[in-house]
Amino acid sequence: MPCDIDPLAFAHRADPYPVYRILRDEAPVQWSETMDCYCVSRFDDVQHVLKSPDDFSSRAMFTLLMNNGSAGVDVSWAGIKFAFTVLKNLRMMPWNFVRSRILIASDGDRHSSMRGILNRGFTPREIQRWDGRVRAIVEESLEPLREGEPFDLMEDLAVRVPVTVVAELLGVEKARQPDFKRWSDAVIYNATGPGRERPFNAEFISTMSELFDYFGAVIDERSAAPTDDLIGQLLTAQKGDQDPLSPLELVMFITLLMVAGNETTTNAIGNGARALLAHPEQLSRVAADPTLAARVVEETLRYDAPVQTVFRTATRDTEVGGTRIPKGAFVAALIGSANRDERRFVDADRFDIDRETQGHLGFGLGKHFCLGASLARLQARTAIEALAPELLQVSTDPAKHEHVDSFLVRGLRSLPLRQGA
Ligand code: HEM
Repeated sequence: MPCDIDPLAFAHRADPYPVYRILRDEAPVQWSETMDCYCVSRFDDVQHVLKSPDDFSSRAMFTLLMNNGSAGVDVSWAGIKFAFTVLKNLRMMPWNFVRSRILIASDGDRHSSMRGILNRGFTPREIQRWDGRVRAIVEESLEPLREGEPFDLMEDLAVRVPVTVVAELLGVEKARQPDFKRWSDAVIYNATGPGRERPFNAEFISTMSELFDYFGAVIDERSAAPTDDLIGQLLTAQKGDQDPLSPLELVMFITLLMVAGNETTTNAIGNGARALLAHPEQLSRVAADPTLAARVVEETLRYDAPVQTVFRTATRDTEVGGTRIPKGAFVAALIGSANRDERRFVDADRFDIDRETQGHLGFGLGKHFCLGASLARLQARTAIEALAPELLQVSTDPAKHEHVDSFLVRGLRSLPLRQGA
């Protein structure tokens, strides 16, 4: 082993960047005991992994996310019962379960066919329609802050905006939105939270049963009477398709949106606000000129990436940066490190909204490039734009910033603001 650092060890989570720097210089492909995988830290190598889907399969995303980071399959009796209930409720046979596509974990034609269908719900035109509504949700969320009430930037704004947007995008009615938030929290916690012991526990399974029951019924209703929300649009758009999404694939996609669309956007807003609070001169410029908000978002995605790593499985014996990687091994492509690689970005550890951020890997790269990038950008930009002038009037105590304890996402759980600069 070239150096004795475990790149994904819990100890580095609060600030992984000094460790990433050592890895890039001394051990650009390093084994992690914590996650049983090879960690790739240089920009060029991460780019190579993401652009070579034939050599690096996305299967790992399923194995690791379903098991909260453990490679071994751990299916409890409750899990098996859950799978049967789901199949029964969705009137599907067990072999349909095996055949089901999961967007983020599929490769080749299976991925392209599914992505082709789902892209239809995320075209720039579709997303543009959300501009006014996103603005309204942001303004409503900021009211308590403007009225001088206690305000936690994470809970009261950064979490609220994406959960409300994704719920409305899916057409979840207002009365069920608190349930949708609870389901989202459970899915995120199970997929990326701190616990690695039997993540698929009975409580989680009962929450998932509620989610599957609810969306199973929604799909039935909207198949019979199409609606204008994402689920209705996807059902209508694929009528006549040769290989349409099954109800199970659709519910699994909705579940994926909870992980891929909610906490990521939350942390883009939170990490951006935190960087601005730490750089008051840049904050003043953004407060005075809202058009700079888009630059804040891109620099945040580079400087403090909400998704720090994505995983792949080597499909054959191969090599990255001169290190041999055997067939079947897991590979962590460390996006958070690649974005700080001084071989690619000058003075990479500096937060600088004037820099050229083109090519950052915050949304991934290649075939699995983030499906929700336009929606995420719209939400984060709108939130930062409205928030910046307010941040001039407040202060915060970094000692009270609580980090999300996750191997995958980087951000704060809590960022309390105090009135008075
Ligand atoms: C700033 C916020 C976000 C960040 C940083 C982010 C990051 C990423 C990254 C890095 C990937 C690539 C995964 C891989 O290569 O394995 C990805 C994929 C994906 N993201 Fe996002 N994401 C964000 C917001 C969203 C939103 C708002 C949605 C939808 C509502 C979304 C939906 C997806 C989906 C469905 C995929 C899988 C695409 C595929 O496999 O073809 N994301 N995202």
